[in-house]
Amino acid sequence: MSSTEKIVLTGIKPTGTPHVGNYVGALKPLIEQSQTQKTFMFIADLHALNLIHDATQIKQHTYEITAMLVALGLNLDNAILFRQSDIDEIYQLNTLLTNVTPKGLMNRAHSYKAAMDKNIANGDDVDAGINMGLYTYPILMSADILLYNSDIVPVGADQKQHVEFARDIAGYFNHIYGETFKLPTPVIGRDTGLIPGLDGRKMSKSYDNTIPLMAPEKELKKKIMRIITDSKTPEEAKDPDESTIYQLYKHFASETEVAEFAEMFRAGGMGYGTAKTILFEKINSVLSDARMEYERLMANTDEIEQILKRGAERAKPVAMETLARVKKAMLG
Ligand code: ADP
Ligand code: TRP
Repeated sequence: MSSTEKIVLTGIKPTGTPHVGNYVGALKPLIEQSQTQKTFMFIADLHALNLIHDATQIKQHTYEITAMLVALGLNLDNAILFRQSDIDEIYQLNTLLTNVTPKGLMNRAHSYKAAMDKNIANGDDVDAGINMGLYTYPILMSADILLYNSDIVPVGADQKQHVEFARDIAGYFNHIYGETFKLPTPVIGRDTGLIPGLDGRKMSKSYDNTIPLMAPEKELKKKIMRIITDSKTPEEAKDPDESTIYQLYKHFASETEVAEFAEMFRAGGMGYGTAKTILFEKINSVLSDARMEYERLMANTDEIEQILKRGAERAKPVAMETLARVKKAMLG
């Protein structure tokens, strides 16, 4: 990597089995980007810990996301794909950064405020169920970003504030200890909330309305057939933009196919059952090769561990160099 090349980094939290919304909004753009752009890309398992207190689940989701990225064609030469918790330097930088992070900054974090608001609305103690992992989440994320000297951090809109906090924390640090960190910039490349789920609301594991990306064919079909539609008869003309079926189809079919499908909605004469079958066949054919590779990898988790290990070996020297620099600045 030449010194003028911008360093790009992003993390993906292993908190659930990736669904079609995650694919379109996050995984697909990252896979496309990896074809031309060097990127540090890690599975943020430490960030999942404030929510999931079950090692088996965290490991399972880590394997699933890694296998999916690889099966869907992530370029492993350009993407340094690793597991956050495999790099010991992250725990150390996190501890060091707590000392330059104002408590007030953490109080302002959207995610912490949302958790407090929920407690207040329920009439609970404001801090009920809120652990320090959630409260200090932005410090750990800053450590991720700063440890690898990142310039650019592609994230969903919901994560923009966290990247801005990393920039603030880097600035506080540099002010006290002299130029040590570069200031990272968030890039909102991922479109959060774009993809509707089975019930028409945003597809999200919190709404239990998802289509798992690598669902076996039978399950995929069953899910798609359960998409909620309005009561228009097959003969009636329909607005494609109001249909979840069309909204999903758009992200899997070619431009010509999408235009044809839209026309079939507008013309009338196509029932929702038929539209769902067309959607199923499209998603199924686009994903079938990747699904086979995914299933192969999930049956060989040693191979997934090897992929993550190779990524960690490439990330580690960068982390060591940064940590040494920070320790020297803070401790002499
Ligand atoms: P969930 O809402 O299921 O908990 P996450 O919050 O873990 O999903 O989402 C991880 C990333 O996946 C988000 O930052 C966003 O980029 C993408 N994503 C999630 N849901 C959607 C959606 N419905 N449409 C588009 N992108 C989404
Ligand atoms: N917090 C991010 C999310 O919930 C995941 C993440 C952890 C991340 N560390 C990061 C993203 C560093 C970008 C950079 O999606």
